Amino acid sequence: MNKNEAIGIFDSGIGGITVLREILEVLPNENYIYYSDSKNNPYGDKSDDQINELCENIVNLFIEQKCKAIVIACNTAGAKSVQYLREKYTNIPFIAIEPAYKMVHDYAYNESTLVLATKGTIESEKFNLLYHTYDNHKTILLPCIGLADIIEEGNEDKIKTYLKEHLEPYRGKIKNVVLGCTHYPLIQEEIQEVLGQVTFFNGAPYLAKHLQEVLEEKNLINSKGIKGTIQFIDSSNDEQKKKRFFEIIKE
Ligand code: DGL
Repeated sequence: MNKNEAIGIFDSGIGGITVLREILEVLPNENYIYYSDSKNNPYGDKSDDQINELCENIVNLFIEQKCKAIVIACNTAGAKSVQYLREKYTNIPFIAIEPAYKMVHDYAYNESTLVLATKGTIESEKFNLLYHTYDNHKTILLPCIGLADIIEEGNEDKIKTYLKEHLEPYRGKIKNVVLGCTHYPLIQEEIQEVLGQVTFFNGAPYLAKHLQEVLEEKNLINSKGIKGTIQFIDSSNDEQKKKRFFEIIKE
């Protein structure tokens, strides 16, 4: 594996940009290939086998591109497939996002907490293990079916209507919100408008640090001291998506 090769990063759409943003803070000199699988989204309602197959196709593409590490910037894919992928592809490191529920345990244990994630993440074995290990008995798990889709669409009215309908019952009752889907950090303001003042927990900054540690440990940090490149691939060749991706990355 070569230090100057790219890091592959993927999600079911552009949501994983919230992970890439944090990674760029820590590792600005790396080259990235971002794969948005919009042809197959949402991942949140798919079976384990379906997600494994979709992930495998993306991983094969990254391997053809000689990527030196793979970031799973999708909680659903991470929860369902990371173990399968690690067993199948033993020569490449996988770094996967997961809902930052342990952080609530470490920093805000006694407080009421709302975990927002896809149905797939909430029902997964991996998340259930995490949840039962760190359960503070003041937590509500809320599967947000369809929310990632409308964030992907970028329709502000639909987002506001959805949040009003689903989060209104928790207004003023919640202290912490775990953003358990990589699309959700894009709508923090809108979430706060409905829930009132809350503290957000997002696993992305920790993933970025962890990625850096893994690359350091494997002596894979890009040694060229210049800003890296970002290549964007969308599985449905959606030009609009590409435009939006680069707009958000520049913000
Ligand atoms: N962004 C993905 C996640 O973090 C899921 C979105 C989807 O359902 O496709 O879980």
